[in-house]
Amino acid sequence: MTAENIYPIFDTLLQTEDKEERLKQRAYVIWMVGLSGSGKSTLARALENTLHEQGFLTQLLDGDNLRVGINNNLGFSEEDRKENIRRAAETAKLFAKCGVVTICSMISPTEEIRCMAREIVGDRYFEVFVSCSVEECERRDVKGLYAKARAGEIKNFTGIDSPFEEPQTADLVVSTDKEPLEESHRKLVEAVLEKIKYE
Ligand code: PPS
Repeated sequence: MTAENIYPIFDTLLQTEDKEERLKQRAYVIWMVGLSGSGKSTLARALENTLHEQGFLTQLLDGDNLRVGINNNLGFSEEDRKENIRRAAETAKLFAKCGVVTICSMISPTEEIRCMAREIVGDRYFEVFVSCSVEECERRDVKGLYAKARAGEIKNFTGIDSPFEEPQTADLVVSTDKEPLEESHRKLVEAVLEKIKYE
C-alpha cells in the first residue's frame, strides 16, 4: 500500500451520515412519553421487534433498565428525574451518532424535561405521547405500584402525588385507552418507518 492510499484514514472523520449510508437507515431517537402503565414500554418493545424484523439496527433504552445501571444513583425527585432524562438523552444521542435507531421509553413527566431531551438529541428527536388516563393506568396497575402509591408506601409517584404534564407538541399521539394496542402499534410503526427509511 502506498502512502497516498493510507492518508485518507488519518484525515477522514467519519460522520453519522456515513454510518447511516452503511446501515441504510436514518438514525432517529424515538422518545416514548407516558404514565407508568400507559403501555409505552410494551409499545417500545414491539416497535423494536418490528423494526428488527425489517432489517433495521435498533437499541431500546428503558427508564426501568437505565435506573439499575447508569442512573442507579437517582430517585424520583424533580431534580433526579431531570438528571435521569439528561443522561438518557445523552446516551440516546451517542447511539444515534452510530447510526442506530434508538427507542427511549421514559415517563418524562414535564414539558421542561422533554424540551431538554429534544434539545440534547437535536433534529432527530421524534416524540411519541402514549396517552392513557391515570384512572385506566391505575386500573391496570401492572406492577402494583399505584396501589403502593395510594397506600403511601411509594412517594412522588407520577400521576398520584407527582405531576404529569400532557405533551402538547408530540410528533405522534397514540391512545392506549381508546384503541387496541395493535392499532397504536400500527400507527407507531407507520410513522417511524416514514422517518427512518433511507432514500
Ligand atoms: S422519569 O420520570 O422519566 O424519570 O421516570 P423513568 O425513568 O421512566 O422511570 C419510571 C419507572 O420507575 C418505576 N417507578 C416510578 N415511576 C414513577 N414514579 C415513581 N415514584 C416511581 N417509582 C418507581 C416504574 O416502574 C416506572 O416504570 P414504567 O415503565 O413507567 O411503568
